[in-house]
Amino acid sequence: MASNGQNSDNSAFSRLMKPFSSSNTMSTPAQAGCSTLRGGGYRNKVALKPGHSAMDWSVLSNNKGKTGILITGIKKLLSDPEVAKINSPQALMALQHGVPSFKIYPPLKITMAHLKQHNTADDCWCVLGNKVYCITAYLDFHPGGSDILLKSAAGKDGTAAFERYHRWVNYERFLETSYIGRFIP
Ligand code: HEM
Repeated sequence: MASNGQNSDNSAFSRLMKPFSSSNTMSTPAQAGCSTLRGGGYRNKVALKPGHSAMDWSVLSNNKGKTGILITGIKKLLSDPEVAKINSPQALMALQHGVPSFKIYPPLKITMAHLKQHNTADDCWCVLGNKVYCITAYLDFHPGGSDILLKSAAGKDGTAAFERYHRWVNYERFLETSYIGRFIP
């Protein structure tokens, strides 16, 4: 606690949760479908493998993740003629030269037709908000398990499912270095 009585926790984990605000707490007193506490009081979190805590993910994504190592499916992206049509030659050239997609500005444009092609455990993309993320590396770190992600988010828009379970989770922070580009529905 800081001397003014406010919580000064600035740990890697706390940065991954959205700060309390009227938009994610007060106006939504009871989150419909919230899984956190089920009948009998148990949570439906899964047991994560050793080395797969939120803290481990934070370290991985903020260190090695910065090189683009967490992102899969770039070859597929580069070989899609439709992707070439709607993206700038500069952006595609940068990708070809190994620049991680999260560093490309303006962001790459990704269509639904392309998104659908990344729907497996070894190449898994999803949309959250209007952003496309690669969640391949995150699957084993997800406290709700990889199966639920593969079922409700792989190769599709997972926003509604995400919001149903945990709208307080700051996915933009969690997946900062797994960002692919902007979703063009
Ligand atoms: C792809 C981005 C996602 C990220 C970064 C993410 C992150 C997280 C985090 C941090 C937790 C722990 C929450 C807490 O302790 O309060 C969690 C739990 C969970 N998530 Fe996700 N999640 C994602 C997507 C999804 C989706 C799409 C679903 C549903 C279809 C889902 C279902 C769950 C479930 C069921 C739990 C366990 C909740 C509990 O009982 O406490 N997640 N997730």
